[in-house]
Amino acid sequence: MAIRKIFENGDPCLRKTSKPVLLFDDRLHSLLDDMADTLYKANGVGLAAPQIGFLKRIVVIDILDGNGLIEMINPKILACSGEQTGPEGCLSVPGFQGTVTRPNSVTVLFQDRNGETRQMTGSELFARAVCHELDHLDGKLYIDIAKNLEAVQPEEEDK
Ligand code: NI
Repeated sequence: MAIRKIFENGDPCLRKTSKPVLLFDDRLHSLLDDMADTLYKANGVGLAAPQIGFLKRIVVIDILDGNGLIEMINPKILACSGEQTGPEGCLSVPGFQGTVTRPNSVTVLFQDRNGETRQMTGSELFARAVCHELDHLDGKLYIDIAKNLEAVQPEEEDK
């Protein structure tokens, strides 16, 4: 387990398309563990593998709703409905937030760390986080679609 460096906007790896995960092995598990450590250290709600320099289709999400960490490998949105408009930020774009319109509800198909297929449906922050993190896997950042992008005071870092 280790905290990884989070790549920031301007780094080319944030603009690349990530590749599917084929092997559900110890290396994947240790990458997932590092992603969790890095996410919690940064007080984020989601992190995608390309943000720490791995061009693999992996995201971790914890929206602090009591469900804990959700690891999604090779995730795909099956359905979405409705619309929500609200503030969004990104660990790769520190010090900024912007207003983004996303679906209000999504159903996402993915594999867990053992390669088992799973499906989840959720709304509001869950849907926003899933859309934001999956965009990272295709080299997209929320600042591409945000309105009213503005500087915010960065959160104090935990030491
Ligand atoms: Ni992000």
